Amino acid sequence: MSSAPHVAIVGVTGAVGQEFLRVLEQRNFPIGKLTLLASARSAGKTVDFKGTTYTVKELTEDSFGDVDLALFSAGGSISKKYAPIASDAGATVVDNSSAFRMIDSVPLVVPEVNPEAVEGIELGKGGIIANPNCSTIIMLVPVTPIHRRAGVKRMVVSTYQAASGAGAAAMAELELQTSEVLAGKEPTCDIFPRQYAFNLFSHNSDIIPEHGYNEEEYKMVCETHKIWKNSDVKITATCVRVPVMRAHAESINLELEQPLDADEARQLLSEAAGVRVVDDRVGNNFPTPLEASNEDDVLVGRIRNDISREGTKVTGLDLFVCGDQVRKGAALNAVQIAELLVK
Ligand code: A2P
Repeated sequence: MSSAPHVAIVGVTGAVGQEFLRVLEQRNFPIGKLTLLASARSAGKTVDFKGTTYTVKELTEDSFGDVDLALFSAGGSISKKYAPIASDAGATVVDNSSAFRMIDSVPLVVPEVNPEAVEGIELGKGGIIANPNCSTIIMLVPVTPIHRRAGVKRMVVSTYQAASGAGAAAMAELELQTSEVLAGKEPTCDIFPRQYAFNLFSHNSDIIPEHGYNEEEYKMVCETHKIWKNSDVKITATCVRVPVMRAHAESINLELEQPLDADEARQLLSEAAGVRVVDDRVGNNFPTPLEASNEDDVLVGRIRNDISREGTKVTGLDLFVCGDQVRKGAALNAVQIAELLVK
């Protein structure tokens, strides 16, 4: 397309929607026209972007008339209904929900990992591209370079996930509960059915009866297989919500096909796109969710040989990573996907 695209943001009042605006401005994404959409509750609210004030409109079936790029982050049911309508109207959709991720014909993209998946898609000509689950993105940015060098045979991941993954209302509830608990009051539990402040709990997504994994854990397995185009890699995950505002942490154990030791992995990761190594053993300084917040890069540290593995060559590694859930886990990754289409 020759002129700057007409961009629509669906769910602009949410945590990810607000981050879309920051990322688009910071990266100077070309925008010919901007349409901001949310529910009827938000219609009429105003939002400033690059010195211009925009009025939020209610999302309807007629919202996408001349839109070229629609960034969706308003939840799965809204995406299911409106993303096909937007695509039929000619908008290329980058969808943050899980609604389309596992459909074969829908590319599931982490730009540092599989940018080739968007080949053939043109802005303004319809189509849906899925943004992966936040925990999957934050895991695959640092693990893929290791996989390419040494082949991941099996991966064991445990997550420590922030409130932001459950949306702006969950972040507000964590803040409220923290002050309530400190004041000796009963915490308000509207979003999660139990106390979140000063606590942690198994991820709030539904448990799949067949095997007992929750949906978040199972997404990390299935999405990695799709993105890597490799279903042979063995993956198991345990996902936990911790009282942190907006960055996820993950402990990752890798079993490798080929030998690769911690020093080689550290060197490899220091050159990898989208990764920053924070691995100071002397100072005991490693990635933290606070340091990762508002950062584009996924921070990686605690890079060490897995001493539980036998043999003279190192074929097991441990890592600890932190990445901003709202940014690289959602808005930034989606905008980077859109950037692949404007180049
Ligand atoms: P609204 O603020 O008007 O409810 P989060 O993930 O942070 O909770 O944000 C969810 C986003 O999805 C918000 O922007 C919210 O808008 C939007 N949303 C929720 N329900 C609808 C709907 N029925 N139509 C359009 N947008 C919706």
